[in-house]
Amino acid sequence: MLTKENVIDALEHVQDPELNRSIVELNMVRNINIMEGHVSLEVVLTIQGCPLKAKIQEDIESSLRKIGALSVSLKFGSMTKEERETLTKVLKGNATTETGMPKMLAPDSGVKFIAITSGKGGVGKSTVTINLAVALARLGKRVGILDADIYGFSVPAMMGITQKPTMIDQTVIPVESHGVKVMSMGFFAADDNPVMWRGPMLNKWIKNFLVNTHWGELDYMLLDLPPGTGDVAIDVAAMIPQGKEIIVTTPHNVASFVASRAGAMAKHTKHEIVGIIENMAYFEEQDGSKNYLFGKGGGEMLAKRLGTEVIATIPFSNRKENNDANVFDEESYIGETFASLAEDLVNQS
Ligand SMILES: Nc1ncnc2c1ncn2[C@@H]1O[C@H](COP(=O)(O)OP(=O)(O)OP(=O)(O)O)[C@@H](O)[C@H]1O
Ligand SMILES: [Mg+2]
Repeated sequence: MLTKENVIDALEHVQDPELNRSIVELNMVRNINIMEGHVSLEVVLTIQGCPLKAKIQEDIESSLRKIGALSVSLKFGSMTKEERETLTKVLKGNATTETGMPKMLAPDSGVKFIAITSGKGGVGKSTVTINLAVALARLGKRVGILDADIYGFSVPAMMGITQKPTMIDQTVIPVESHGVKVMSMGFFAADDNPVMWRGPMLNKWIKNFLVNTHWGELDYMLLDLPPGTGDVAIDVAAMIPQGKEIIVTTPHNVASFVASRAGAMAKHTKHEIVGIIENMAYFEEQDGSKNYLFGKGGGEMLAKRLGTEVIATIPFSNRKENNDANVFDEESYIGETFASLAEDLVNQS
């Protein structure tokens, strides 16, 4: 016979699709009633008109039918302010230590932080960040992108994200795109800026992005840094000393990069360098020959100077083949290049 305990056990496996936690654990289930195999219950949602209602409903119905429910009558309600506050605390409690520091920053958190940097702008940091993130996600890794380019953010647009993140009180649920969780200042760029991101909070932005965002469990966190070696890079290094770095360059920007930036950056951040990615390395002509528009060997030169290696060489993309998108198809040459880079990274650690 179907009991309340059976129903709760079954619902343990139903997750809130945004929070990726059991609806039972999140205390969203109310008023379970069982009448001769017919189950009725109420589910309170974090926000009214939760867009994922249909998914929750489907999951609840199928898991209850599996344990023998003849019918499922489901009513949706919404959490009270107090209930939402409790939920925020639960989410935050999981994300921070007693001193309020993000737990994922603890050396044993299992989250690998990789910052994508460059000496110069426009060399392809954001392109590398999103494609490496997507490639890692395609391998089944749990990946977040923290768009650390807080003023020049481009990740949402480049990934084709048009939706805004859900907020539960002051906690942001990152937007998922191509299997990657994304958090960017770009989400708050409009007039409806939440107060928390304004003014004085800006100087604690990294901590805010880590603590006030419900990242859930992650294997990798990629940080798309703004160009150059400004404050952001130094903040990131101070906050995430265990982070590693991938440096992106074009063959053409190398000389100035080496001269002016590399030394200073290495000195400031002390981050381990994973390697160099040479982007826009060549253009493949119709006949298959390679046209080295920006010269040759720049990535190698930089790698030597920094005592590291070139870990990927990315040609100019034929945008038409990729429908103008910035996330490259898995089967495209560039997509495959990122896939094998992702594999190397996973195997390294
Ligand atoms: N391999 C490539 N082939 C063709 N276009 C590319 C390639 N890599 C990047 N681009 C394009 O070059 C431009 C700059 O790339 P991207 O935004 O990734 O660089 P960035 O280093 O992040 O720039 P910024 O310093 O402004 O943040 C973008 O329009 C991007 O689509
Ligand atoms: Mg960028």
